[in-house]
Amino acid sequence: ADEGMWIPMLIGKNYNQMKKQGFKLTPKDLYDVNKASLKDAIVSFGGFCTGELVSANGLLFTNHHCGYDAIASKSTPADNILDNGFYAKNNNEEKPIPGLFVNFLVKIEDVTDRILKETANLSGEAKETKITELSNNISEEATKGTHYNAFVRDFYKGNQYFLFIMEKFTDIRLVGTPPQSIGKFGGDTDNWVWPRQTGDFSIFRVYAGKDNKPADYSTENRPYKPKKFLPVSIKGVENNDFAMVYGFPGRTDRFLTSYGVELALDSVSPEIVKLRDIRLKAWKKEMDKDVAFRLKVSSQYASVANYWKYFIGQGEQLKALKIEDKKKAEEQEFTTWAASQPQYANLMSQYAELYKAYAPYARHRVFITEGFLASKWVTNALRLEKSVEALEAVRGTDAYEKTKEETLASLETYESTYNEIADKSVFATMLATFYNDIPKNQHPQFFRIITDKYWDGSAETTFKKYADILWKESKLIQPNKLRAFLANNPSLSKYKEDVAYAYAKNLVISDYIKENFGDRLKNFENKKAELDHLYMQALLKKNNNKLMYPDANSTMRITYGNVQNYSPKDGVLYKETTTIEGAMAKYIPKDDEFDLPANFIEAFNAKNYGRYGKNGTLIVNFISNNDITGGNSGSPVINAKGELIGLAFDGNWEAMSGDIAFDKNFKRSINVDIRYVLWCIDILGGAKNIINELDIRK
Ligand code: ARG
Repeated sequence: ADEGMWIPMLIGKNYNQMKKQGFKLTPKDLYDVNKASLKDAIVSFGGFCTGELVSANGLLFTNHHCGYDAIASKSTPADNILDNGFYAKNNNEEKPIPGLFVNFLVKIEDVTDRILKETANLSGEAKETKITELSNNISEEATKGTHYNAFVRDFYKGNQYFLFIMEKFTDIRLVGTPPQSIGKFGGDTDNWVWPRQTGDFSIFRVYAGKDNKPADYSTENRPYKPKKFLPVSIKGVENNDFAMVYGFPGRTDRFLTSYGVELALDSVSPEIVKLRDIRLKAWKKEMDKDVAFRLKVSSQYASVANYWKYFIGQGEQLKALKIEDKKKAEEQEFTTWAASQPQYANLMSQYAELYKAYAPYARHRVFITEGFLASKWVTNALRLEKSVEALEAVRGTDAYEKTKEETLASLETYESTYNEIADKSVFATMLATFYNDIPKNQHPQFFRIITDKYWDGSAETTFKKYADILWKESKLIQPNKLRAFLANNPSLSKYKEDVAYAYAKNLVISDYIKENFGDRLKNFENKKAELDHLYMQALLKKNNNKLMYPDANSTMRITYGNVQNYSPKDGVLYKETTTIEGAMAKYIPKDDEFDLPANFIEAFNAKNYGRYGKNGTLIVNFISNNDITGGNSGSPVINAKGELIGLAFDGNWEAMSGDIAFDKNFKRSINVDIRYVLWCIDILGGAKNIINELDIRK
């Protein structure tokens, strides 16, 4: 059915159900190690999204928001492909994206027995170390003499282990993208919401060496010839049609206890939202002033905004769907079942105790990752300590100039999104928020010293003053001063005298994170992992032989179900599709989020939908009841015959708690209809060369 992210190698167990729901192929068509199967057409895109091969020449589709960073990185105010769109007319116009890769799955092997057997008598750190060692050995043995790479992942909280053998390609080039007014239509306002009208796609090509094997970027490389690519169906979708999503879901937490839900609701999620909001507001002001800065920071802005809204929605729906109560009821039933089994009988009270002790400190973790470390100069300053050390070590030798050049070149990432006004304001506001939100007796020593020394009547004015002083006195924050310092024989002792370095070091290394909070967090996480392992083990037993799927862990999964409308509330039915008329109804000329390109309006007025339209309109997005999460973005939505009908790109508001609890009534995957994608490429983009590569079926 709809719920479940299934392991492709084991999909045979689901087959009868899939067939009943309309699936026409065989399990071997989905996953086969001996001959080409659908899995060979699907890749992990950059490790954070999914992509699918759609031509014999390595052409790949993914989401616009997955290609966003690549697209933005190739955009300048003079050649602004993020805002204007771009389609390569031939291979020479494609844009190489350094650092981007795709990973194909070669095969999966169950290595549970070996790992469990060899770790049976171990616990705690010793067990972790042994598992890592075994995983490395197993991966090495499996890939010896090949160009593959491999890793072992744990499933069901360390109760099962699978080996994944992968083939990684690193020469990936951008082939096309719609203007972001189409690719990100609706912006943050419509993000995570149905009904939707977004053309969330972009196009890349995988390149290989002359032998069709992975090769680093070279002009000699050729388009990769995949074992398998997906044909495209322009027949159109109907409510209840079979639909399957095949991809790389990142992370779910479906077995989180009610105690975890309570903690998320009470403190963690609201604090994340609050801290993200600080960054977004500060950036937005500056983005509106300066196109060059906007292009540079857009990608970071989009990812911060994406999970800012995610956590707002998650909190809202955890409450609306009463997830904590539902989990409590399940846990009570579990405890009754476990009463006669000493190893499981007290699990829930142990969870209760663990969370009770940790809860008062839980927000520190949010402040570290989303607050203090949001100031990029902090980690940059610590990283550069090593560079200055290296420079001192080679001073007076021939290696000096080269080391210096490398050090200066390494500043580019930091410099590219530096913005004095935004960065300073974020820094000061984060510290003030920490001061106000965290009980005084939990303030770390270095923080108390700053507060006392610079106190100026309120937290806001105090940390603003402190920020002004750091920015003025430090040579490690402002890019021009930093460059000058590093270029002119920097000494380590001078480096360490810097005020900003002292702050960064106290924060990360000598006081707060490591000594004060780090251990508390580690102890909580270790203990929680132990309990989770036992709880899962018990649930597997309790569940007996019923089909059960493991949490997402960035490995390849299949979820199958149907195209399906839903009722968001009493008396309202949301249709399964949206149309170009719906996009036009939202159109606001020149708006950040709801603008549309001129040729879109023209084609709409002329009803120029080519072979992609039906019944006088053009379908833009559709929904299906597939079980997806972040990482699935860009995944192919595949029909009963194995043809591509859309790309999954989002979840819906009414089911934002879905990573913690799947709700059958509400949970939907939001997909861009492949006909809309082809219309954008063909009719708006005029890129017949791309259309001609595809295997289009009716
Ligand atoms: N919410 C989507 C996801 O996490 C990303 C959508 C991107 N679009 C946007 N307007 N930010 O997969």
